[in-house]
Amino acid sequence: ELLHTLIAGMPKAELHMHLEGSLEPEMMFRLAKRNGIDLGFASEDALRQAYDFQNLQSFLDLYYAGLRVLLTRQDFLDMTTAYLDRVRQDNVVHAEVLLSPQGHTRRGVDFAEMFCGVRDALREGAVRHGMTTGLIIGFQRHLTEESAFETLRQSEPYAADILAFGLGGAELGNPPEKFARVFAECRARGFRTVAHAGEEGPPDYVRDSIDLLGVDRIDHGVRAAEDPALVARLAQLRVPLTVCPQSNVKLRVYDTMAEHSLAALLRAGVMVTINSDDPPYFGGYITDNFLDAQAALNLTEAEIYRIARNGFEAAFIDVAHRDRLV
Ligand code: ADE
Ligand code: ZN
Repeated sequence: ELLHTLIAGMPKAELHMHLEGSLEPEMMFRLAKRNGIDLGFASEDALRQAYDFQNLQSFLDLYYAGLRVLLTRQDFLDMTTAYLDRVRQDNVVHAEVLLSPQGHTRRGVDFAEMFCGVRDALREGAVRHGMTTGLIIGFQRHLTEESAFETLRQSEPYAADILAFGLGGAELGNPPEKFARVFAECRARGFRTVAHAGEEGPPDYVRDSIDLLGVDRIDHGVRAAEDPALVARLAQLRVPLTVCPQSNVKLRVYDTMAEHSLAALLRAGVMVTINSDDPPYFGGYITDNFLDAQAALNLTEAEIYRIARNGFEAAFIDVAHRDRLV
């Protein structure tokens, strides 16, 4: 009970969430109606009933169907604002959020409209809530290297508002090396990089994301636990893992939360953080992810603090040295 109060109230940094995966059914139906799009579900409840996944791809199919409601600058602004307003309840004081432009430009959405809607919401939200925000542009790994390079080119005019580039989408069959040249270019331009790895893919994808992509953080990375040499290396290099416990159970990486590798990784000295990924789809925001993981894995108070602290240490903005705190 005490731990519950502590978890709910402590300041948090969220480093792994997909804006497109933050659309609550109510918002999705509102945008669908505004844009005259048929979602293919009779009601918000019917949509919620479909949140029952076999694996990552079965989720991605629904996620891609859902993001079709996003067309205008206002839509992107409303989505981003809703997320920031919601996570204030969880005392998220710093958020680095992922946006995947290819999911939108492929449908004919204008890059500038999309980007500026998100950017303005992140700026306004930061001021309104007294928090810090940052944007990570995600490439989609099932698409081509050329398409990723095109996204990098389109992002160029907005470089000042981009913290990092990342990699998401269907992991199996789309190994990190496919994007080695794109990531080299991102790093050459001074951007930080992250990549989803070791979610459904093998530990080697985590290793290769570090060695071939040069990433600063790994998104998920939970299957690294199967490879003790890799675990030791992650700990030694202090490579942060942005773990999303509820996502991993909903997408059946683990049958139950009790089997999740988070505690083992943490106790082996890996810099584990807790995040929400796609909160409505997976059943909870960041506080719920902390609570579920704590209960199932018997995380101690000290471990909870460690994980929360890791979130700030792993952040790309030096949150502790923000002007207002100095
Ligand atoms: N896009 C949104 N959520 C994702 C996840 N969990 N893995 C890969 N790509 C994603
Ligand atoms: Zn993710």
